[in-house]
Amino acid sequence: MRALLKRLTPAVILVSLAMPLASHDPITTKLTWTQEISRMVYKRCAGCHHAGGMAMSLTTYEDARPWAKAIRDEVLSRRMPPWGAVKGIGEFAGDPSLSRQEMDNFVAWVEGGAPEGDAGLPPSHGPVLKPETMPMPRYARMLPVVREVTLPRTQSLVAIRPKDLVEGGALEAWAVKPDGAVERLIAVQGFRKRWARDYVLREPLRLPAGTRLRVAAKAGSAVLFFAD
Ligand code: HEC
Repeated sequence: MRALLKRLTPAVILVSLAMPLASHDPITTKLTWTQEISRMVYKRCAGCHHAGGMAMSLTTYEDARPWAKAIRDEVLSRRMPPWGAVKGIGEFAGDPSLSRQEMDNFVAWVEGGAPEGDAGLPPSHGPVLKPETMPMPRYARMLPVVREVTLPRTQSLVAIRPKDLVEGGALEAWAVKPDGAVERLIAVQGFRKRWARDYVLREPLRLPAGTRLRVAAKAGSAVLFFAD
């Protein structure tokens, strides 16, 4: 290496030091910021990630590019957008989780060198969308479930509130109906106090009398809200 360096003229060394960062990341994807990526960011991220917002701006290519690898990691681990509940278990109103396709696009864009695309094109994204906040629906009864509770009568579940979880903690709740059928209600992973929320079911879930409601968590419990 030393011998090689000696043979290179200072000019060559200077030129190679001055090479733009992008040369380390060859562009191997057709996905671009101006097309697919800014569209997703405006829809899913920019409501919080804008200048003067609650987190650093991701609204321009210049803002987002230095964060590319962090974006990949946050998206892959589902830490962003913040939600906490595992997608596919229970169906909740206002679930901001990325679809599989959106996740794949973010990851492929970053792995492919995070190119900008044609900066001269008009932006392909819509306006910044704020994340939805779901109001707690009307409920008649709150039922704390530490480990197991049996429903004395038929009731409709409308929302779930994880309670007393530790930072980074996990929780699962499920229902075992009298006929033995199991309905998974929610799975929370990587709980963060900052993002603690109530999870409102998209549709009330009718649970017959005798249903056993069970919660598993290292620390913590759940409060279930029933409409009747
Ligand atoms: C509800 C608001 C909100 C939404 C929506 C949101 N973020 Fe964030 N994000 C934050 C906040 C606040 C932080 C600051 C650190 C924290 O609390 O995790 C953050 C931090 C980050 C970080 C930095 C993590 C680190 O390494 O420190 C990245 C990268 C990120 N967000 C990417 C995204 C992407 C990509 C999206 C959309 C797919 C998104 N965020 C959606 C609020 C949000």
